[in-house]
Amino acid sequence: MKQYNSLLYFLNHGLWLLLLLCHIQILHNKRFCSGSSMSRNKAMVESLQRYGVIRSNKVAEVMESIDRALFVPNGAGAYIDSPMSIGYNATISAPHMHAMCLQLLEKNLQPGMHALDIGSGTGYLTACFGMMVRPEGRAVGVEHIPELVSSSIENIQKSAAAQLLKDGSLSVHAADGRKGWPEFAPYDAIHVGAAAPEIPQALIDQLKPGGRMVIPVGNMFQDLKVVDKKSDGSISVHTETSVRYVPLTSREAQLRGY
Ligand SMILES: C[S@@+](CC[C@H](N)C(=O)[O-])C[C@H]1O[C@@H](n2cnc3c(N)ncnc32)[C@H](O)[C@@H]1O
Repeated sequence: MKQYNSLLYFLNHGLWLLLLLCHIQILHNKRFCSGSSMSRNKAMVESLQRYGVIRSNKVAEVMESIDRALFVPNGAGAYIDSPMSIGYNATISAPHMHAMCLQLLEKNLQPGMHALDIGSGTGYLTACFGMMVRPEGRAVGVEHIPELVSSSIENIQKSAAAQLLKDGSLSVHAADGRKGWPEFAPYDAIHVGAAAPEIPQALIDQLKPGGRMVIPVGNMFQDLKVVDKKSDGSISVHTETSVRYVPLTSREAQLRGY
């Protein structure tokens, strides 16, 4: 009789608890990798392909694999082609800027290559770099706001690039990006996600011969510069387009609003 009562109790309460736990798990999975979220991410990539911003299959594949919603606070407005605030007077760049920089750097983001992402913010582009250069490549993010470094690591852990963090081929560091990250230099690709008054010498020094850097340069008016280092170590610079980024500056200046 006692056993029968326990069975009834389980059927009445335990089963409901089990169903509730399953439901919570489903909601949790939906937040991080729901089919609809991934399909909206895919639609965003397809739109960038239609407009000719993405021209390579590899860049499209990588941007499809990294769901942008995981890198945007609360996932809100993740697929809108616009920069968005991420706190600390910083922004996540617009999808077309991410796509343009991946396109410009594509030849220098081949499997096995080293990529440096200065001002890595949410970690979105560092994750894309990791996916481009895997296996055996290395992607390094440098961001000077420690809170953004922590949240970017959490973002990447939820994304398709999580394994790269685990195996150590992708890392994000809290430091002044104007000094680069000498530990894994020289780099085949360097991306700078904030506008520098001039191109920092340390970044030129850490670029590999044959390497390419994409960096916004200027104050009020900025140009996206493409810096190519030739095999003899000399550099050529050309302007790709006009842009508007937050400044590459000191942490103090950024936190007080520049
Ligand atoms: C426009 S946001 C781009 C972020 C990133 N590319 C993304 O889309 O998530 C520029 C980032 O550069 C960072 N930053 C500015 N100056 C820096 C410096 N000296 N060293 C490292 N990071 C810096 C800012 O904190 C900000 O996160």
